[in-house]
This record gives sequence, structure tokens and C-alpha cells, in this order.
Amino acid sequence: MHPGVLHRRFLSDLSTSLFSFVLPLLPTSEELTIKEEVRTLIEKLIKTIEPSARLLSFGSSCNSFGLRNSDMDLVVLIDDPDAGLDSSMFVQMIGDLLERETNFDVKPLPKARIPIIKLNLAASPGLPFGIACDIGIENRLAIENTRLLLTYATIDPARVRTLVLFLKVWAKRRRINSPYRGTLSSYGITLMVLYFLVHVKQPPVLPNLQRIAPVRPITEEEMMLESRNVYFFDDVEMLRQEWSSVNFESVGELLIDFFRYFSHDFQFNTMVLSLRAGPLTKESKGWTNDIDVGGLNEMARDRNRLCIEDPFEITYNVARTVTKDGLYTIRGEFMRATRILTQRHDRAVLALAELCR
Ligand code: GTP
Ligand code: MG
Repeated sequence: MHPGVLHRRFLSDLSTSLFSFVLPLLPTSEELTIKEEVRTLIEKLIKTIEPSARLLSFGSSCNSFGLRNSDMDLVVLIDDPDAGLDSSMFVQMIGDLLERETNFDVKPLPKARIPIIKLNLAASPGLPFGIACDIGIENRLAIENTRLLLTYATIDPARVRTLVLFLKVWAKRRRINSPYRGTLSSYGITLMVLYFLVHVKQPPVLPNLQRIAPVRPITEEEMMLESRNVYFFDDVEMLRQEWSSVNFESVGELLIDFFRYFSHDFQFNTMVLSLRAGPLTKESKGWTNDIDVGGLNEMARDRNRLCIEDPFEITYNVARTVTKDGLYTIRGEFMRATRILTQRHDRAVLALAELCR
């Protein structure tokens, strides 16, 4: 058979295989129900300390990029401005309360840079592996970036969700999803995929939601949160009607191109990925590698190996955890993935299995 025909068949096979690969890894409805029950229970308990407190989910449990058994990210928001609770104290109080009133394994970390409570729920029939849960305090920006990610997913769920979910699984299996070990957070990986779909693909698969003007004028106050501009176009109904991408590439083609772009084209040494603004230079952001800060030199250098600008906290490098070795490993994985997907043109399902081995 002609190589072109074989290749086209492989691509369509790859897209089908990606959907089938991701489907059984999605959370079960039972898992979602238990998580929601746990959230409600904890919220009720926290309200006995501070009645104006609410407990909200963020991260992958509600940005539509959640996988089965993924952790639960929760945040306490205190609506009463006169509550006068300091985060460390509040974390300690909630920790003590949960220890007394529940049988979760509770670990309050009131002295951490960002005070949180860590919980572990034991395994049960609905949660065969238990669940890890972090509860933070007043992290309102995380709620906004979760909404931004969810809105992007909603525009083109078949392609966007499939790509992100597959790449999260791939990154976990290939061990490049460990911020504590010098590689990337899931949030960082998700931002890379969205950046690729908004700024690299021509024509783009997704619009830049932070650059679409609001339909009605909005005040400075509505736009700002903790002195950050958190505006983005979030009218999903209108986006569905008004935005139709003229990029018709299949999810398989996009995946191959994603790996190829980050293997060969992206300039890791000099460039910053900004979902908000497109490609930026490290120099323009002051995120250069060779800041001379004496004994701290190595650390400063490592903070900006890979640069991914947070969509709202634009002075913050989401990939600051990536070390020199970590970046070497990540780039090696992009190259390995490109090789696997461009060299073997027999069965896509086998290529995916090898990719995630
Ligand atoms: P999994 O837990 O692996 O399924 O992915 P996740 O989407 O929940 O990502 P992760 O646990 O890495 O982060 C949870 C949420 O915390 C993200 O969706 C963000 O809202 C927020 N977050 C995580 N890391 C950062 C960071 O470095 N900067 C900021 N501003 N927010 C972050
Ligand atoms: Mg999470």
C-alpha cells in the first residue's frame, strides 16, 4: 500500500485509540459522588469554626481534566472580612477539628510557606485506592485559573480534553510529572497543551480567552483579584456560537505535532510560554538563567530552566520546579515520543502502549 495511505490510516487509528485509551481512566460517578460527600462533610465541620467559610473544589476535580483517583484540591474561602482569622491558626484549628470528628488521616501544616491541611481517605469500595486531599486557605486565584482551564476545555472538549488527559497520563507514566523531583506539575503540562493549541497551531484550535474583549464594559474592580488581572472571556454559550476553529486536524495529528514542536522547535533556553501573551523572551521577563547571585547561583539558574508564565500571576513561573536534569529528561521524553509516533506506522494502539510504558 502507498505510504501516504498507510500514514493516513495510522492517524485516524491514532485518534480512535486516544479516545479509547482515555475513556476508562476517567473518574467513575461513584468516585465523584464520594468526593462531593467528603467536601460537604468537611465544609459543614469548618462552618462550626467560622460560619462564613465555604469549601470549594478546584484543580482537576472541576477543570474537566481529572483522571480516576486524582487528588482532591480544596480551598476554604472566608466571606466575612471581619473574621480576622490568620491562615496558620485556621489550618491548625481545622486540623484539630477534623482529627476529632472524622476518621481521616489528618496532617495540618500550619507553618508551611502556604499553610495547608493534608488528608488521606482510606480505601473503600467506591474509592479502591483511597484519596489524597489538600485543603488550602483563601487561594482565590486557583479558583479563577481552574475556571479558565475549564472554559478552554468546554470550547472543544473532544480534542482539548483528550489531548490534556492523555498527556497527563503519559507524563505520569514517564515520570516527568513530579515537581518535587525536578519535573512538571499537572498544571504546567496543561498550560503547555493550551499554549500549543492557542499560539502554536496555525490556524489556532482555540482562541485566546484573555484577549477577547468583554461584550459589556467591565469595571477595573471586576477585573482585578489580589492586584492581578483575572479577566477572561467566559461566556461559554456565546463562544459556542461565535468561535469555530478552521483548524480541523484530528487529535492524533495534534498529538504528534505537540511532541514534534516541543522536541525541535520551542527554544527552551531563551523563550517563555505565555498562554496570556504568546511567546515571550526570558530576557523581557527578567527570567534569565545566568543571574549572578553569588552562592545562590545554581538555584537561581534552576528556577528558570523551563519557563511557563501563570495566566494571572504573571510574575510567577509555574515550571520553576524544573531542574537542569529535569528539563533534560523532559526533552528526552518529547523526542522519544516523536520517534515512536513518527516511525512506527502499524497499529496505533501499540504505539500508545509503548509511548506510556
Ligand atoms: P492532577 O491533580 O494531577 O489531576 O492535576 P491538577 O489539574 O489538579 O493539577 P495540580 O494538582 O498540579 O494543581 C491543582 C490546581 O492548583 C491547578 O489547577 C491550579 O489551579 C493550582 N496550581 C497548581 N500549581 C500551581 C502553580 O504553580 N501556580 C498556581 N498559580 N496555581 C497552581
Ligand atoms: Mg490536583
